[in-house]
Amino acid sequence: MHATNPTKSSHSAAAPVITIDGPTASGKGTITRLLARRLGWHILDSGALYRLVALAARKHSIPFDDDDSLRTLAAHLDVEFVVDEDAGEVVTLLEGEDVTQELRTETCGNDASKVASVPAVREALLERQRAFRQPPGLVADGRDMGTVVFPDAVLKIFLTASAEERARRRYNQLKDKGLGVTMRGLLDEIAERDARDRERSASPLVPAEDAIQLDTSELGIDEVVDRLWSLCQARLG
Ligand code: CDP
Repeated sequence: MHATNPTKSSHSAAAPVITIDGPTASGKGTITRLLARRLGWHILDSGALYRLVALAARKHSIPFDDDDSLRTLAAHLDVEFVVDEDAGEVVTLLEGEDVTQELRTETCGNDASKVASVPAVREALLERQRAFRQPPGLVADGRDMGTVVFPDAVLKIFLTASAEERARRRYNQLKDKGLGVTMRGLLDEIAERDARDRERSASPLVPAEDAIQLDTSELGIDEVVDRLWSLCQARLG
């Protein structure tokens, strides 16, 4: 295992960034991983940071409307991402405890969307996110990567897909992991999360003006990655 935790001192403003934003279950995570692997670049899963703040809040019994305590929690989040070479996955440690599985649950995603609407939390996580920008480059996945965190990104992508298609994808993802969910429940949760992410005042989910929008409802993963790869080659030369 080796740690993959950036430090402020190694932050490089010169490293190029590609941002991949979009609503829940639009395929950002998978696409980001595959594209970053092809490019040989680093990854920022910004949603994981909001999920971690939500988990830490629950752990310390901090209510989701206690802005000051949430700000302090987000600013001092004790987290480590460790690559398990044998399993080929990243293990997430929160205050030394393995929370990898808990982090991916729908409950945690919903909690994350609540703490993510608190401006103080977003502000506290800003520098931590920017510290992931290291040579040779970064593919950043989230909601406000192109609008707020990396406005100077060399390529900005906004992925969408119909709510039904996103619920279907999420259902298959969670079913494979053995986590009990229903399509109806997922559709409702997706609609609720979309509304909260789009309507919040702090960094709402909107495409950056210079983002390229791609509807992936009818596209397979490889097709999406191939299209983005072509766009990267055109932009990066
Ligand atoms: O995988 P999924 O898209 O469902 O969730 P995620 O990317 O892990 O993000 C969880 C929640 O964190 C989202 O519903 C957003 O409310 C919030 N988030 C955010 O506000 N800004 C980001 N850059 C990333 C996530």
